[in-house]
Amino acid sequence: MLTQVSRSEEARNILLQNDRGGYTIPTAGLYPYQWNWDSAITAMGFAEFDNVRAWQELETLFTGQWDDGMVPHILFHKPDPGYFPGPDVWGGTGPIPSSSITQPPVAATMARIIWEKDRGAGADRFKVLLPKLRAWHTWFLSWRLDQGAVCVTHPWEAGRDNAPDWDAVMARIDPVGVGEYQRRDTSHVDGSMRPTKYDYDRYIWLVQMGNRLKWDQAALLEENPFRIADPTMTFLLLRAHRDLLRTGEELGLDTSGMAEEIALLEQGAASLWNPNLNSYDSRDAKTGEWTGTISNASYLCWLAGLDSKEQAEHLERSLQQVQFGVASYDPNGEKFDSKRYWRGPTWAFMNFLIGLGLEEHKHSLASHVREVTREVIRQHGFAEYFDPTDGSPAGGQSFTWTAAVWLGWASKEQGAA
Ligand code: GLC
Repeated sequence: MLTQVSRSEEARNILLQNDRGGYTIPTAGLYPYQWNWDSAITAMGFAEFDNVRAWQELETLFTGQWDDGMVPHILFHKPDPGYFPGPDVWGGTGPIPSSSITQPPVAATMARIIWEKDRGAGADRFKVLLPKLRAWHTWFLSWRLDQGAVCVTHPWEAGRDNAPDWDAVMARIDPVGVGEYQRRDTSHVDGSMRPTKYDYDRYIWLVQMGNRLKWDQAALLEENPFRIADPTMTFLLLRAHRDLLRTGEELGLDTSGMAEEIALLEQGAASLWNPNLNSYDSRDAKTGEWTGTISNASYLCWLAGLDSKEQAEHLERSLQQVQFGVASYDPNGEKFDSKRYWRGPTWAFMNFLIGLGLEEHKHSLASHVREVTREVIRQHGFAEYFDPTDGSPAGGQSFTWTAAVWLGWASKEQGAA
């Protein structure tokens, strides 16, 4: 078994090997482009040994920002025929080839962490980035709110591709006319660890619909059956907006309107509390129905500044049931599948975001979440995700954000800078 020190060396090497010049790819083969929230987390890892490179990762991400403020979930900087769906399927209209949906906005929060490490070096860079971050956040506020909570319009937008949250809405979609296509993910990793063909047909159908509507948000609001108020987006945007406000004030920039926007997002976050489940949940914005899911996104409430005794009880129970990290879906839930992506496995970067929030609230579970994440990586390496029942590594290997989380958080003792 590798020691902690050699794991750290390995982690740095993964970041360097997956560097494609100003941006990193999540892992070679399976994900050959720049992914939005992967990059933000990766920037945090780079800041451990190269602060300038950390800022550059975020700056490159924003070269893909659309005129309306949206920052795409994938930037196709260089063509790679081994990936599907590529730029032609998306039909995006941004400055560089990209997908046409977004991903959870963690960039401002990661920028804040990077800045804290070297305020002098980062101030000018943050000043340039801040209006761009704000434009992205404003885009969410303009197009995606449901009772103040932030909606996703495609499962990939939440970054939790096949989470049980989406099942009921996906079942209502008839992917008629989706046609023949060749998936690439299952040629890189075992199909039992990936979404099913049933899911994939619907993912592609949704992309084709968006392309047909030229990604016009007003038209999508009418026509897209998939519109779900999601705790991932809501909690992370709320947190990111708080970070932006604080930074804007400290840098002497215009922050007018932000306090009111935060208040609205706070209402939205509160609206995701499902009293029947006694948990934060996602909600179908088209019907108002709860999805009935306790997921790892439910545990992002602390990062957003919201404490909840009931949510902590769910977390405690889950951590007792599975020993290798926060399961992405309730281990008691009937849909729990310990190997299938977002239906059970534990993800190091989610554990990091959850752990950070718990640490800020001085919660007694905080050190446990960090320790189990450290242990699973120490024992099993830098996998994309892990089976939370036995720690076995799953999905892609040499994964960038897993390495970044090790460097910036998991390998350290709580309280260490
Ligand atoms: C998968 C994950 C998503 C991530 C992407 C690249 O699609 O579900 O969250 O951003 O892979 O790692």
